[in-house]
Amino acid sequence: MPALEQQTNFSGLAAQVAIARVARMLSEAGVEHPGRDARILTAAALSATSAGLLLDPGRTLDDEEGRALAGFARRRQAREPVSRILGRRDFYGRSFRISPSVLDPRPCSETLIDAALEVVRDTRWDGRRLRIFDVGTGSGALLLTLLSELPEAEGMGTDVCADALAVARENARMLGLSGRARFAEMRSLAGFEQTFDLLISNPPYIPSRDIESLEPEVRFFDPRGALDGGVDGLEIYREIASDLPRVLHNGWALFEVGAGQAQDVAAILGAPGSRTWTDLGGHTRCVAVKTLSVDRS
Ligand SMILES: C[S@@+](CC[C@H](N)C(=O)[O-])C[C@H]1O[C@@H](n2cnc3c(N)ncnc32)[C@H](O)[C@@H]1O
Repeated sequence: MPALEQQTNFSGLAAQVAIARVARMLSEAGVEHPGRDARILTAAALSATSAGLLLDPGRTLDDEEGRALAGFARRRQAREPVSRILGRRDFYGRSFRISPSVLDPRPCSETLIDAALEVVRDTRWDGRRLRIFDVGTGSGALLLTLLSELPEAEGMGTDVCADALAVARENARMLGLSGRARFAEMRSLAGFEQTFDLLISNPPYIPSRDIESLEPEVRFFDPRGALDGGVDGLEIYREIASDLPRVLHNGWALFEVGAGQAQDVAAILGAPGSRTWTDLGGHTRCVAVKTLSVDRS
């Protein structure tokens, strides 16, 4: 058997041997956490959890499991993220389906969830049902997390990508939230006439010229439309800001921002007294502004 084929033939191997072999392959491909990823992928090929595998490291892979692991290992070797190989990502304690059409939700976006929950807790909403609007919803991770955390709220997620909206709808169904979450294809806030209390958005914010220098996991596997924020990375913030007063009356708008963008985004939003939140790495990740009170009648 040729060396490469032998390296990726996992049938009949004990799980711990397969893990070591996959870890070596991934390490040679420059993957950052080869051991961790090898364990997760081997567990997935065996339809086990990583914890279950720890208790039974001598479990042998049969032919089908060996083939599945070989496929997973080759994909990770080509720098496809583990979450994309498995089609799932955990976010704020819940599991979301992801597809090639959606951004892989990032742990740093949990800062926006914490910020939104803080704002909701600190604001008087006059007893009305909170209405949340998520611009660029992707997998729906942000909107659906907030609706799960706020059982009295309802919301709408929009995106320019119809395939992303199909994933968001499926996640809403799986989380039992279809009754409180609506989705629509729309660019920014163009022509939108309804009003909301809380607007959240994690728009594409990478300057176009920087995309080529991103990690392969991001550059080749996140959709370009979820990354590219135009020449300076701020184009979508400008689009949303220009229509904000129309859809958000006496409410809060919270935006995720990229490294070093907080001041520019606060300036684009234009409202005095913006608030910011930092992620666990100390980077400002979320900028929020309160819109002025406007008579709704
Ligand atoms: C960075 S991703 C965020 C996805 C999801 N909200 C999250 O945090 O995981 C940005 C999303 O915005 C969508 N998008 C890009 N430009 C848009 C625009 N002008 N209006 C609405 N959605 C847009 C993309 O298709 C993509 O799904």
